[in-house]
Amino acid sequence: MSLTKTDSNAWWKKGAIYQIYPRSFKDTDNDGVGDLKGITEKLDYLQWLGVDAVWISPIYPSPARDFGYDVTDFTGVDSLFGTLRDFDEMLSEAHARDIKIILDFLPNHSSDEHPWFIASRSSATNPKRDWYTWRAARADGSPPNNWRSLNDLETPGSAWIWDEATGQYFLATFSPFQPELNWRNPEVRESMLAAMRFWLERGVDGFRLDMLDFLGKDAKLRDEPPETAAADDYPTTAKYHLNQPETHAYIREMRRLVHSYSGRVLVGEVLYYLEPEQFGAYYGNAAEGKGLDLPFNFGLMFTPLEAAALRAKVDAYDAALGENWPNYNLSNHDMPRLSRHGEATRLIAMLLLTLRGTPFLYYGEELGMTNVEVPRDKQQDSFIVYQTGLTRDAVRTPMQWSAEPHAGFSETEPWLPIADDYQEVNVVMEKQDETSLLWLYKRLLELRRRVPALSVGSYTALDGLPETCFGFLRVSGESEALVLLNFSADGCSAALPSPGWRVTLSTSDKRDDAEGYIDLAPFEGVILQRD
Ligand code: NOJ
Repeated sequence: MSLTKTDSNAWWKKGAIYQIYPRSFKDTDNDGVGDLKGITEKLDYLQWLGVDAVWISPIYPSPARDFGYDVTDFTGVDSLFGTLRDFDEMLSEAHARDIKIILDFLPNHSSDEHPWFIASRSSATNPKRDWYTWRAARADGSPPNNWRSLNDLETPGSAWIWDEATGQYFLATFSPFQPELNWRNPEVRESMLAAMRFWLERGVDGFRLDMLDFLGKDAKLRDEPPETAAADDYPTTAKYHLNQPETHAYIREMRRLVHSYSGRVLVGEVLYYLEPEQFGAYYGNAAEGKGLDLPFNFGLMFTPLEAAALRAKVDAYDAALGENWPNYNLSNHDMPRLSRHGEATRLIAMLLLTLRGTPFLYYGEELGMTNVEVPRDKQQDSFIVYQTGLTRDAVRTPMQWSAEPHAGFSETEPWLPIADDYQEVNVVMEKQDETSLLWLYKRLLELRRRVPALSVGSYTALDGLPETCFGFLRVSGESEALVLLNFSADGCSAALPSPGWRVTLSTSDKRDDAEGYIDLAPFEGVILQRD
């Protein structure tokens, strides 16, 4: 059980953040790929839904071998998505609706087609050589150390890629075409901060920083112990390849810049495996200064959907953070969609939007979009989504707006196939049906806004509930809410901790008010308030 004080009204603490994968949100120029004008067109929908901010996956010029996560210009817009003018228009239209815009930003690597890397690889003496990490082979020709790639696409296992022309290896941990920038070089840091400043000046409300834990590498590029390098869960226990003290110094530099503008937020992707205690480091500390506002917490993605396991994870995380503000991610453009939980999908929506911490909501989850098995000849991505055996295309199919051809996403065949269920699962249909998942999300978002306990309130897990039930109390001043979630295909009966509670919202269509106890249907969740 934990009780943590909350004090701030920052929008990113109170609000819910909606992630848009821009290629798949809305296509207005009918090339089969979503664009910035499409996002602008759909801002009214996002306002209706009730989200506070939008995080947009990368829109920079890119050869798109990793669909924007391989950048060739950190201060441009890919013509596929539109122009800087379209960007400015989207931003001002979003702000007019009180919706913030968070840009994905990629400090760790560029595309191998970025002019910086082209210069860097052109000769060992090029002034940009040191902007990336280059090293000679070992005597036997093997890579300079035993660090492993996150995707074994080339040089099996190694994070180092051989460059024939200059006879050295360069470091590229994610994929061979995403060489990593050398943050020890002050010119690199200056250039990346200048790119961030460019977007801040335009008015963006913050950044989501990609692969942040990899910015700093061991100065001597030491080998990992052999057992670490060979482990199936590499780089979970790696000591030198990531999570270096320098990374926190780099984050502080970015923070100083971002928070020199008022009301901005710094979100960062740190690895999926981190335990609650490890998040602390990424928030910074009193001695050295603050770090990220929201280092992503992916913990619940890997937690079994069982009351005890969920409670243990949330309790540990909430307690470990102290004054720092939590956040929850349950799905995104790399991870499976929530509909994989079948009957529990509505319950998961309630969990995500009632826990203490900023919720990140991936586009289409509010409709119940599925993990689509894209046929091999239509696949675009080369990486596999955790646990599904499918490429990440599965979670990136176009947004289902209507039952019109191509789901109202485009007037032409989209870059990825539309899911088969689009005639029933789409915004138009679900808007008409107030029992739909879409309406549940809308009501949850509306309640979070209206009831301070649900956004900024403290979190206290409840004891004495049936073992399938995860329940917690949220309190902020006079505002109180009780949340009970039944993670079971059987019903259960839960005693209420005190008198006077009434159900405000249920994941089921209809239910009676409670007095003293409450009967929960299979996979039902309820929010209760007191008169
Ligand atoms: C993490 C991003 O979420 C993922 O989509 C991308 O492929 C890698 N970083 C490389 O940028």
